[in-house]
Amino acid sequence: MDPFSTAVMADPIGTLGPMRPDQAFDPHTALLDWYGQYQRDLPWRRDPTPYRVLVSEIMLHQTQVDRVVPFFDRFLQRFPTLAVLATASRAEVIGAWGGLGYNRRAVYLHELARVAVERYGGVLPQDRSALEALPGVGPYTAGAVLSIAFGQDEPAVDTNVERVIARYFGTGSIPKAALNQNARELVPPGQAREWNQALMDLGSSICRARAPRCLLCPLVPGCASAGDAAPMPKRKSDVFLESSRYYRGRMLAMLRGLAPGEGVPLSEIGQSLASQGVAEPKEGWGAIGQRLADDGLAEVRHSAQETRIALPS
Ligand code: ADE
Repeated sequence: MDPFSTAVMADPIGTLGPMRPDQAFDPHTALLDWYGQYQRDLPWRRDPTPYRVLVSEIMLHQTQVDRVVPFFDRFLQRFPTLAVLATASRAEVIGAWGGLGYNRRAVYLHELARVAVERYGGVLPQDRSALEALPGVGPYTAGAVLSIAFGQDEPAVDTNVERVIARYFGTGSIPKAALNQNARELVPPGQAREWNQALMDLGSSICRARAPRCLLCPLVPGCASAGDAAPMPKRKSDVFLESSRYYRGRMLAMLRGLAPGEGVPLSEIGQSLASQGVAEPKEGWGAIGQRLADDGLAEVRHSAQETRIALPS
């Protein structure tokens, strides 16, 4: 299907007068056809085992697809199953996560592997409440695993999908429960795997937050916001959190470079990072190390002589 043809028919820029969503329009056929033609070729889509889908979704949670792909392949080579991941040390998993950012995800994933091996022998459960009871798994990740890996008719609503649905129905921002209900009713029986991923692709490539590309959108004929999709407000960034994340990232990168089991004296951290152009954080390196430790990403070792920071053992 030529993606322009429906857009022209639907007149998204309004040259033929104000637009009304076409009541007879079938969004399922339109979006699934579009996905059939334009879906991205991604490693977890080629072989959507539960473990691969889980790892991909956790990586994609705060990182763009293009950055995730090479990390995903390397991570899967190193930790090919939940059982292998569960037996690795925490330091190895944090080390392998290097460069992907939002490192607490590595801690959750490792913890999840251990719990899944202990509770389920390393086989992920096919049930929403059991999945959501695993560390770091929320309704979105559970929905993605259930639909993409297990083929269940479950919705998977992340911020991209939420935006597509809210714009399509012209509801604006609505309570989570109502949104989830809408999303659940929209899933075409037997096609949740393709449907959910089509919504994800549409949200990231066409129905973008600040620059929607309605001219290319297959859902235009039925969309309440076509040609008039409001840019989403920029999220306020928390300056303190952002700068703290920077310092934590620099300290963690340093810890990743140490030999296994080794720690670095707190008194040497400032000097060493200063030589790389990193200024002392206002709160001091000790506080940064403590935050990493609170998140399970580091270990603070006190002795009579000194305090050392290391990756967790
Ligand atoms: N973003 C989050 N999950 C995704 C997926 N499975 N495919 C593409 N983009 C995504």
